[in-house]
Amino acid sequence: KAEKYMDLRSPICYILGHVDTGKTKLLDCIRCTNVQRGEAGGITQQIGATFFPIENIRERTKELKAGAALHVPGFLVIDTPGHQSFSNLRTRGSSLCDIAILVVDIMRGIQAQTIEYLNILERHKADFIIVLNKVDRLFGWKRCPNAPIKKALKQQAEGVKMEFDARLTDIVMQFKMQGINTILYYRNKEIDCTYKNIVPTCAISGEGIPDLLLLLVQWAQKKMKERLIFSNNIECTVLEVKVTEGHGTTIDVVLANGFLREGDQIVTCGMQGPIVTHIRALLTPHPMKELRIKCPYQHHKEIKASQGIKISAPPGDDQEKSVNKAMAEMAVLMNRIDKNNDGVYVQASSLGSLEALIEFLKNPAVNIPVYDFNIGPVHRKDVMKASVMLEKKKEYAAIFAFDVKVMPDAHEIANESSVKIFVADVIYHIFDQFTTYIEGLRE
Ligand code: GTP
Ligand code: NA
Ligand code: MG
Repeated sequence: KAEKYMDLRSPICYILGHVDTGKTKLLDCIRCTNVQRGEAGGITQQIGATFFPIENIRERTKELKAGAALHVPGFLVIDTPGHQSFSNLRTRGSSLCDIAILVVDIMRGIQAQTIEYLNILERHKADFIIVLNKVDRLFGWKRCPNAPIKKALKQQAEGVKMEFDARLTDIVMQFKMQGINTILYYRNKEIDCTYKNIVPTCAISGEGIPDLLLLLVQWAQKKMKERLIFSNNIECTVLEVKVTEGHGTTIDVVLANGFLREGDQIVTCGMQGPIVTHIRALLTPHPMKELRIKCPYQHHKEIKASQGIKISAPPGDDQEKSVNKAMAEMAVLMNRIDKNNDGVYVQASSLGSLEALIEFLKNPAVNIPVYDFNIGPVHRKDVMKASVMLEKKKEYAAIFAFDVKVMPDAHEIANESSVKIFVADVIYHIFDQFTTYIEGLRE
């Protein structure tokens, strides 16, 4: 009885996996939306947060008769990018993870980033569920939209069942080689789980989705008494800092515990040091929509954890106050970014994507030095800075503008001074354009 009155927060669930295993598609399938098709190049470039209210999850798991009492308000699910140049985003995002969903493509098995994730999960001692996605790729698969996986498997021809068993056995073996015991979840009779559960799914037609949601609910039931009890101490992590239309500079955060209220003082890292400001507006997407999608936001006076929140804040109240912790974090970031005497000028929409782009350029196969960088739209002053290279190393007199606008005055002065601006939404596309340009110069 007491449980009913316990104050619980929503678990924070990270969805991880090698590139293109279907992480975003799985979330789309649960939400019934299509973020995946709207992404540049089908690659997730930022972390998105979605709140799934418990009523929706109950509805989706009805067929499995999950009925038991559950008092968490819902789940906060965070999508992460799979591409290797985003490993900084992944490690940053995973620090507040309660449970993870590790997605594996049933046709491909364990891949490079699956192993990288297993290491991250190990480091954080995080619980996780393994999803074997894309079961519809098994030859001859008969679709059973949104069916529990056991039921869907029953409908399949013998050959399909055999291929399924063979691939499952193989993947269980691959995990074993990584030191992890796994088992098809409905064969798992253990209560005190040394085996990690495997759920086969199809993110296109929804087979196995009820099972996945059920496992999340069961996990939450088990953990209710320990880690999900709400506490008033603020735990919050920043995912992205970016300019949002109509709201100025905004900060996307995940609030894992405590309250945030309008007017609360906050400290953030700026390019020139710490910024002390206050919360002007607390914004959330509507439930089941995600933070990345452009839709009108709900305004709140206060928000209780767990939630993904967009914070809008004025540029800074009190520049005098020095805040050591924020300074230290900024110093760490600045150190990670090597500035060179000769190099290109890099500009991105957020700190996360800036780091990702710079990591990508550092990659030995790419190896383009960076002279300086900035966040936000490309302005005249950025072109001026980049134009320093015209005298030093002409081919580097270039701006890589990743997922940002280029202002008309910047275009104008770039044309006059022959600074090249490369604009793209997908990192590889910038690289391709630049390579073609350099080859052109050499001819
Ligand atoms: P990144 O964010 O780039 O790491 O990829 P992701 O893991 O989010 O994969 P995404 O959802 O972008 O899906 C990659 C491709 O696989 C897309 O073309 C999807 O339509 C396809 N896909 C995802 N899930 C399934 C599935 O269950 N079955 C089939 N047949 N295709 C799928
Ligand atoms: Na993808
Ligand atoms: Mg994705």
